Amino acid sequence: MCGIVGYVGHRPALDVVIAGLRRLEYRGYDSAGVALALPGELWTEKRAGKLANLEAAVADSDPPPATTGIGHTRWATHGGPTDQNAHPHVSSDGAVAIIHNGIIENFAELREELAALGIHLRSETDTEVAAHLVGRELPRCDGDLAEAMRRVCRRLNGAFTLVAVDSARPDVVVGARRNSPLVVGVGEGEAFLASDVAAFIEFTRDAIELGQDQVVEVRRSGVTVTDFDGQPADVRPFTVDWDASAAEKGGYDLFMLKEIAEQPKAVADTLRGRIDRDGRLRLDDVRIPPSELREIDKIVVVACGTAYHAGMVAKYAIEHWTRVPVECELASEFRYRDPIVGPRTLVIAISQSGETMDTLMAMRYAREQGARVLAICNTVGATIPRESDAVLYTYAGPEIAVASTKAFLTQIVAAYLVGLYLAQVRGNKFGDEVRHILDDLAETPAKVDLVLDTVEGVREIARELADSPSVLFIGRHVGYPVALEGALKLKELAYMHAEGFAAGELKHGPIALIEDGMPVVVVVPSPEGRSVLHDKIVSNIQEVRARGARTIVVAEEGDEAVIPYADHIVWVPPCPTLLQPLVATVPLQVFACEMATAKGHDVDQPRNLAKSVTVE
Ligand code: AGP
Repeated sequence: MCGIVGYVGHRPALDVVIAGLRRLEYRGYDSAGVALALPGELWTEKRAGKLANLEAAVADSDPPPATTGIGHTRWATHGGPTDQNAHPHVSSDGAVAIIHNGIIENFAELREELAALGIHLRSETDTEVAAHLVGRELPRCDGDLAEAMRRVCRRLNGAFTLVAVDSARPDVVVGARRNSPLVVGVGEGEAFLASDVAAFIEFTRDAIELGQDQVVEVRRSGVTVTDFDGQPADVRPFTVDWDASAAEKGGYDLFMLKEIAEQPKAVADTLRGRIDRDGRLRLDDVRIPPSELREIDKIVVVACGTAYHAGMVAKYAIEHWTRVPVECELASEFRYRDPIVGPRTLVIAISQSGETMDTLMAMRYAREQGARVLAICNTVGATIPRESDAVLYTYAGPEIAVASTKAFLTQIVAAYLVGLYLAQVRGNKFGDEVRHILDDLAETPAKVDLVLDTVEGVREIARELADSPSVLFIGRHVGYPVALEGALKLKELAYMHAEGFAAGELKHGPIALIEDGMPVVVVVPSPEGRSVLHDKIVSNIQEVRARGARTIVVAEEGDEAVIPYADHIVWVPPCPTLLQPLVATVPLQVFACEMATAKGHDVDQPRNLAKSVTVE
């Protein structure tokens, strides 16, 4: 969850590295630092706090002109966010600087080993042990930084991306990765290393995806990749199809506002090109033969946070279409409950970043039990899709705001595509039935656009309720995970207590929470034919209203049954019940964003959170 940038080439390295860190600040921002390598000199600067603190410190100093450098923005795991704990960390002889993303799980024993040699850490971090170990190996490898890195990596356990420079050979930057992202940018007479392509796409779109347990050396002259034993490694070049502006705010005050507004396009892009000439569904990279998919007797979704809520929504649709039981599991709980998983289980790992360690470890556990894994991911080349048997990428584009919005809608769409694909392969659905559902899906971008055009009223409600101590969210069927998602958004953005419930659960306890004026957001399912679901939730609105709640009701245009019990109504366009989350979620995203803005919070980078949680 940290931002990593390395550069070697013909430009001022400090400028390139700082610019790259700005693009990666969402990955972690409780401290930042840079190191420049020159012949016989290593210059470093690092500061706790946001990147601006580092930039101010650099402006007050006199950095040397260097064309080789590395930089880091941190989300603390070992050791608090202090200047001393900020990266880079330097070897005891002052020659090697290292930055790191991940966790070195055996760092305590390595720290003891160093202490026995008289080398005591200056920081509380696990990273510093790597700096000292590489510094100690360097003389034993005739100054070959890549070999020193390989030797150290073979001793490390855990998840790590390491990037290092050495003042004795300032013409090379060396990186290594295990269970943590690292991509290479290849330019003319220059090269980049980064945890995310956003760091270098203004300079080059030619990139190389690194695999597990690989070490890379980048020089002006080119790139060399080996495994941890020094054997040449196969790599996959790819072209980054984002343009630089895609990672900017595009005229919005907040990345989150931009990404909420991008949802119609994100959904449309995720649907695009999924139907072949015969009208059959075609998915990316599905390396599981249909014969195996026909043998699947259970589906388990593993995910965290918002992605987990997307899995909960998908459960209703996939079970309905395929008649295969679907369990939706919090990834952090899954492997510790001795789950029943085997060769006939399909695990669907949903992850925007593709680096969430809880989800990665859950899917690895499932694979060890013989299950096949299909990843739904928004990040090409990330660890989770790379380790899966099949992948369905969402095409939401870069999601910079820590609070997930467009990724959520596209995760639902992608999971629906998987459900339809399975139904098609297993013969539960004929092509025309699949096509009919896809046609309904194809109409949702326009419906989301309609919602976006009418959300000003939601903003007014949010400002009115900004001082509420708590907000409840209730829903039924696919509206229940939408209620959970609305509550999560409010927690992570407005730092407010918020809780989502299945509306039918209220009478089993939570209704005791209702007091005069308490805001209760209700997600009302489609009244199509006055479904039982719809009538039940209208009763729930009456129950809470009778006890003094202030009801904010999200309902389909024309649903007059809710009007007598709603203090505020947010109308959404009519949708088939299973697709309603794609329109009903949007007002809840706007509600939370506006509430946080009214409270003066940093909406794009909420406190304590990081965009990608790569520790368990
Ligand atoms: C979403 O708003 C949160 N920031 C968080 O719950 C996130 O969804 C979760 O950490 C999973 O991330 P992933 O999709 O990258 O795996």
